[in-house]
Amino acid sequence: MRTVVVTGAGRNIGLAIAGGFAAAGDQVVLNARSAGAVEQAAAQLVEGGARAVGITGDVSRQEDVRRLVAGAEDAFGPVDVLVHCAAVRVHRDFLDMSSEEWRMPFQVGLDAAFHCAQAVLPHMVEQGWGRIIHLAGVTGQTGAARRASVVATKSGLIGFTRALAHEFAGTGVTVNAISPGMIDTERGDWTSLGDQSATTEHYNRRSQQIPARRMGRRAEVTAACLYLASDDAGFVTGHTLNVNGGMFMG
Ligand SMILES: NC(=O)c1ccc[n+]([C@@H]2O[C@H](COP(=O)([O-])OP(=O)(O)OC[C@H]3O[C@@H](n4cnc5c(N)ncnc54)[C@H](OP(=O)(O)O)[C@@H]3O)[C@@H](O)[C@H]2O)c1
Repeated sequence: MRTVVVTGAGRNIGLAIAGGFAAAGDQVVLNARSAGAVEQAAAQLVEGGARAVGITGDVSRQEDVRRLVAGAEDAFGPVDVLVHCAAVRVHRDFLDMSSEEWRMPFQVGLDAAFHCAQAVLPHMVEQGWGRIIHLAGVTGQTGAARRASVVATKSGLIGFTRALAHEFAGTGVTVNAISPGMIDTERGDWTSLGDQSATTEHYNRRSQQIPARRMGRRAEVTAACLYLASDDAGFVTGHTLNVNGGMFMG
């Protein structure tokens, strides 16, 4: 049985991915910062017959990542699959963007990817098998106004994915990214993200501009993730798998 760690698994896509691995028979460790969210989600998976635990922690902090990976090992054994899904949204006119708003997505996206990969790779290399999957995003490929820090982070994650794929090719470890377009998720209070126009209505309207004429489903991102984590994808590395309904309009 594989041990799978999913960061950012407290809600939406990360939670769906964790559920997908659990349903496939893997042992799943769910992580997010909010106390209670991942423990509750893991308890629900366990009720359904899965093996799952929730471990809270901020993956932008190396000590929290070490605790997460050690906790996963204690619960189920060394990590075989890492899915780094944690992210924060920042919508802000570039000239109004604070240093904090510039840095935050990097810390949760890239610093965390660095800490996580360093923590899980030694075991993966030693056993000659491992899977690392980073959640990027279409705006990292197309650019998008008012999202400079998120776009740069997602672009950086795609580059980081390729760098690791090169460095660890031939070890049995693959490193890939999934780049979702607009996925149907619960988006909470958009105004708190710094963008008064980013309402559900706005996103419903934008979804009509997607070539597929709909938003993607969490299950569709999950399926992409399960494929990249499978043995069948052993020759796929450094790839960015677009799950975007043809959306490359930025
Ligand atoms: N939804 C979309 O349409 C879309 C499109 C393109 C790309 N994506 C990417 O897909 C991934 C999932 O998206 P989503 O919409 O499901 O995101 P979401 O609803 O915002 O969920 C993000 C998750 O990350 C956790 N998180 C945030 N900061 C963290 C930290 N420092 N350490 C640990 N966990 C942290 C959050 O929980 P806490 O706040 O409790 O920590 C939450 O569980 C993200 O990487 C996102 O950028 C999504």
